[in-house]
Amino acid sequence: MNTNFKMTATTLKGLEGVLSEELKKLGAQDIKEGIRSVTFRGDQGFLYKANIALRTAIRILKPIRTCKVYDEEDLYEAIQKIKWEKYLDVEGTFAIGAVVNSKNFTSNSHYIALKSKDAVADYFRHKYSKRPNVDLDYPDVKIHVHIQKDWCTISLDSSGDSLHKRGYRSATNIAPINEVLAAGLVLLSGYSGDENFIDPMCGSGTILIEACMIACKIPANINRKQFAFERWKNYDEDLYFTIQDALLKKITNSHFKIMGFDKAPSAVSKAQQNVINANLDEFIGVHHINFFNSTKEVFGNTTILFNPPYGERLNIDVNEFYTKIGDTLKNNYPNSTAWMITSDMQALKHVGLRTSKRIELKNADLDCKFVKYELYEGTRKIKEHKESSNTEVTSED
Ligand SMILES: C[S@@+](CC[C@H](N)C(=O)[O-])C[C@H]1O[C@@H](n2cnc3c(N)ncnc32)[C@H](O)[C@@H]1O
Repeated sequence: MNTNFKMTATTLKGLEGVLSEELKKLGAQDIKEGIRSVTFRGDQGFLYKANIALRTAIRILKPIRTCKVYDEEDLYEAIQKIKWEKYLDVEGTFAIGAVVNSKNFTSNSHYIALKSKDAVADYFRHKYSKRPNVDLDYPDVKIHVHIQKDWCTISLDSSGDSLHKRGYRSATNIAPINEVLAAGLVLLSGYSGDENFIDPMCGSGTILIEACMIACKIPANINRKQFAFERWKNYDEDLYFTIQDALLKKITNSHFKIMGFDKAPSAVSKAQQNVINANLDEFIGVHHINFFNSTKEVFGNTTILFNPPYGERLNIDVNEFYTKIGDTLKNNYPNSTAWMITSDMQALKHVGLRTSKRIELKNADLDCKFVKYELYEGTRKIKEHKESSNTEVTSED
């Protein structure tokens, strides 16, 4: 009997490709990229595996009904047609979230979520003269309603809290990067743990921790307390532990240096705390160093990957700051590959180095570019920043 079913992994804009690559490596079937999502097929064990292991997924949804809807009445009927007792006890609790992107519905997503909640409550009231309660914080079943044009998909959310909440970050600085984005950047850079890795402006250490987890093949969500599927009626604890054990057996040691710098002592101590929370202090060193005064002290190939301050968020002279980034990379980090994400396109021109790749991404609500610089002995700056402020020379892959 084929027990596979369809699932949808949601993600951040620009990470659909790396997410489908992750799913392929994990053994998913029928993988199809969408917008901020990837659909695939797998069985119950794969649903557990996807939640524990995927680095670039925000949540894993299990669709239970897809149909056309043109108004609220259609939506109400669609919800009524689901045999809810299969998933939810009348004594249990539930919560509903909605995302609506359709001209058919003029009311906001919050209102559609409320209407959907009423429909589920009515279903039970009609049948059992009782209804399950709503619990927004800790529901037994979290339901997701997605309306895209004429199509509505009603899903069970198997993750619960967003999967970026890995469980290791207790301390943050003022502009921490989302863990899913950090992992996505490392995967997009192609880093797999076979060379040194430096985040020279590491803040709370997110990029370092995600890079180290990739190097050591540690499942992304191994430190999480709970997934929503653990409260489902069909939860199979033995299967869950079998899947978890199989993933844990793949963990290896990191054989290269993974280092973070920050010029702010408070950021250094936060990063160190988070590294300890992730049990990775054996592999990651975090140092109080101003990147602009640093030199490459590790031998061999090195990936440098960072998100420097952006003008929008932090109060700095961005043009001067980005000129210094270019100078430091060029003069002090030969034979390295540097990757940087920024939303400040004007400041980027002041780096003055030739990019060999440029990828469009979003960091929260900011449109960003993730750029790559290949640094060799004798890499020259393409132009002094004064000349290059209007034209940036790039060679795209
Ligand atoms: C946008 S935050 C990085 C956030 C980080 N990725 C995280 O997840 O928390 C930029 C960091 O660069 C640090 N920084 C700024 N100038 C620096 C310099 N010259 N050398 C080292 N760190 C610097 C700031 O202290 C700040 O922590």
